[in-house]
Amino acid sequence: MTDRGAAPATDAAPVGARDDLGAPEPASAEAAKEITGLDTASPETISVERPKAAEEVLVLDFGGQYSQLIARRIRECGVYAELLPHDTDLERIRERRPRAIVLSGGPASVYAEGAPELRGELLELGIPVLGICYGMQVMVQALGGRVEAAPQGEFGRTELELRDGGGRLLSGLPAEQQCWMSHRDTVFEPPPGFDALASSPRSPVAACESIQRGLYGIQFHPEVVHTPHGSAILDRFLREIAECSDRWSPASVIEQQVERIRAQVGDGAVICGLSGGVDSATAAVLVHRAVGDQLTCVLVDHGLLRKEEATQVVEAFREELGIPLVHVDAADRFIDRLAGETDPETKRKIIGEEFIRVFEEEASKLEDARFLVQGTLYSDVIESGGGAGAATIKSHHNVGGLPDDLDLELVEPLRMLFKDEVRAVATELGLPERFVWRQPFPGPGLGIRIVGGEVTRERLEILREADAILQQEIRAAGLYRELWQSFCVLPVVRSVGVQGDERSYAYPIVIRAVTSDDAMTADWARLPYDLLERVSNRVIGEIKHVNRVALDVSSKPPATIEWE
Ligand code: XMP
Repeated sequence: MTDRGAAPATDAAPVGARDDLGAPEPASAEAAKEITGLDTASPETISVERPKAAEEVLVLDFGGQYSQLIARRIRECGVYAELLPHDTDLERIRERRPRAIVLSGGPASVYAEGAPELRGELLELGIPVLGICYGMQVMVQALGGRVEAAPQGEFGRTELELRDGGGRLLSGLPAEQQCWMSHRDTVFEPPPGFDALASSPRSPVAACESIQRGLYGIQFHPEVVHTPHGSAILDRFLREIAECSDRWSPASVIEQQVERIRAQVGDGAVICGLSGGVDSATAAVLVHRAVGDQLTCVLVDHGLLRKEEATQVVEAFREELGIPLVHVDAADRFIDRLAGETDPETKRKIIGEEFIRVFEEEASKLEDARFLVQGTLYSDVIESGGGAGAATIKSHHNVGGLPDDLDLELVEPLRMLFKDEVRAVATELGLPERFVWRQPFPGPGLGIRIVGGEVTRERLEILREADAILQQEIRAAGLYRELWQSFCVLPVVRSVGVQGDERSYAYPIVIRAVTSDDAMTADWARLPYDLLERVSNRVIGEIKHVNRVALDVSSKPPATIEWE
């Protein structure tokens, strides 16, 4: 079981899957990270049960690639923000009494048939509105300004020049500054009653406002790192215009969730499947803080974990954190069932089925267990709301998860948090550092890293030892957090070597290390040669049956991160 109740290690949609009209897609997750400065995630939106934030901002999603990032940046400014679909019921928006509404960018042209529409009533609620990119264009068009397709769009770094001091939204910022653009349609005239605040080489009106009506628009993207004053602009909008005074932080979720969990579970017994990953571990610690020993954690050890992983989870939970934990050593069951299987999907299926069986057996031993904790994150919530290719890729990976009909009510205290916010909560809750920063690990574990052959105890032992050496050396080199994943693969082939005076005929070990933002795309990590040398020498020297170490230098696509 991995994070998120054995959900896949991936938790975000492809970066660059969509973009504003005609915008060049970032060539890789790395490129996207360079733009966003953050792990980006799915543009799909769905509401979550929100915390009782005194102040919140609603970001209405018109389909832009960076919509989630807007919400994250607003949260970084200390104001709770949530993404909702652009056509969310007006009554629902009114009921939530947001301090401000932000209209996101989107890939459509305001003139295109079926382009997402802006309902005029939204601008009449007396709530400050900030339109970004498409959000600005659709607002300008609705209010009688002039938006037209320009002969040339603007994509990427662009010079911005303020007009007349920049108005209320941009005053005090440098008269000339850099921003990040991604648009083809352009605002040529602001609506009547609006002031134009800035221009760029191809955007005569790159920002506009009507202070009286509380409506603001910017053509560029304040949420990406290439708009250096972006956060200052958002902060100005939030603090001075929308008059937000709260200082929200991920840690503030802890107290709210503790209350909510208590209210939800009463004196019922709660069960949580642990993987050792940050999501399930954080969810468990949060629930334990709320209801103490009503919580029992279960670690299903399928014998496919990494070296000492189960021991670390057991020690951390039982000893360091004092949380009741059942450690089910089911290795024999899993390995016996995997005997003779070489097909990756069959292996996944067997591991998944067996996992559910073992977990159900344990749950049935706990008297009155009525609740199941899951480390579901905001990005999971968003993805399960639908979406493009990401969803399909993930369902294939969603092995080792629990079925929907478990007859247990879900407790999901991280549902409104992004991954980096979960790490902040985990740190605040005192989770050991190795859990907070753990690299993703697939549910079927080492079972899908013995490639092209049967999973046997001997091969598992070889792979586990090689992997441990790699992890040790990568940590010692201070590279662990920089890598999305790093691990070893054991292809079931043998080659000739010469060790001592004898010829050997043994397995190779392949080193796989990647950088990525979201696992949808990945690049092979340029590990230093001396590190590779140390790993190679140690693996071949310390592990019998290995006489060769290779490095995987393939990016994803076209390769995948795992070998199976
Ligand atoms: P690939 O190999 O498709 O992997 O590039 C993308 C991410 O998903 C993880 N992965 C899995 N996670 N069950 C999981 O929980 C699986 O069956 C599975 N297969 C791949 C992989 O480690 C990477 O993070």
